[in-house]
Amino acid sequence: MIVLKSNGELRRMRRAGLVVWRALELVREHVKPGVTTGHLNRLVEEMMAREGAVPSFKGYHGYPASICTSVDEQVVHGIPGDRILHEGQIVSVDIGAIVDGYHGDAARTFPVGVISAEAQRLLDVTWQALQEGIQQARVGNHLSDISHAIQACAEAAGFSVVRDYVGHGIGRQMHEPPQIPNYGPPGMGPKLRAGMVLAIEPMVNAGTYEVRTLEDQWTVVTVDGALSAHFENTVAITPEGPAILTEPEPTGYE
Ligand code: MF3
Ligand code: CO
Repeated sequence: MIVLKSNGELRRMRRAGLVVWRALELVREHVKPGVTTGHLNRLVEEMMAREGAVPSFKGYHGYPASICTSVDEQVVHGIPGDRILHEGQIVSVDIGAIVDGYHGDAARTFPVGVISAEAQRLLDVTWQALQEGIQQARVGNHLSDISHAIQACAEAAGFSVVRDYVGHGIGRQMHEPPQIPNYGPPGMGPKLRAGMVLAIEPMVNAGTYEVRTLEDQWTVVTVDGALSAHFENTVAITPEGPAILTEPEPTGYE
């Protein structure tokens, strides 16, 4: 059921991944107090049009925008609009692109101006959890080795891992098998093989892991109102180890 990708397909996924990375860098440069989330969405739409890429979120199950912008206690799927970003907030930005029929998917949580030390610690730990998950994305490991590494990292720091949303396989579809929970015991699930491509995406909460969806039917928030962070990369499993398709460092699939 898990679709393995050829080297030629990985080169196409690399192109999609780099479009997503550049879009996130564009957003990073523009996140500051006074900017609206809708402005960030517009910038990405214009950039993808210039690059010949298609934003994969727009119209997905009726989703109305090209990126997700989730502020503070919003976990994922926040809809960009008139909301103005303020100093001290954090904003999770999730972007997907299709290039030549293949998807890339990545997310970063950005500080808006100067943020509290505790908010910064949440960002640092969630980023670190993603790195530790990626390090387990190796031939011969089991899928849940990724899950377990992420959970261990987040919980050791006193944070909690969202249960209701998970990472996923990716390729010709944005969401392919397998699902990748960000929690669980190691050594379970399918063995990882070269050619698998996974979107690994820890969502980490400062308080309880419980979440709910707002009346707009999209925005997911923490039930206790505590902060949440989200980092995601699209990662290919190769004989040489994990190849991060949504970061600028060479992967061998350029
Ligand atoms: N990028 C999200 C994911 O990682 C999907 C966004 S849902 C959408 O699965 F509706 F906004 F597209
Ligand atoms: Co994803």
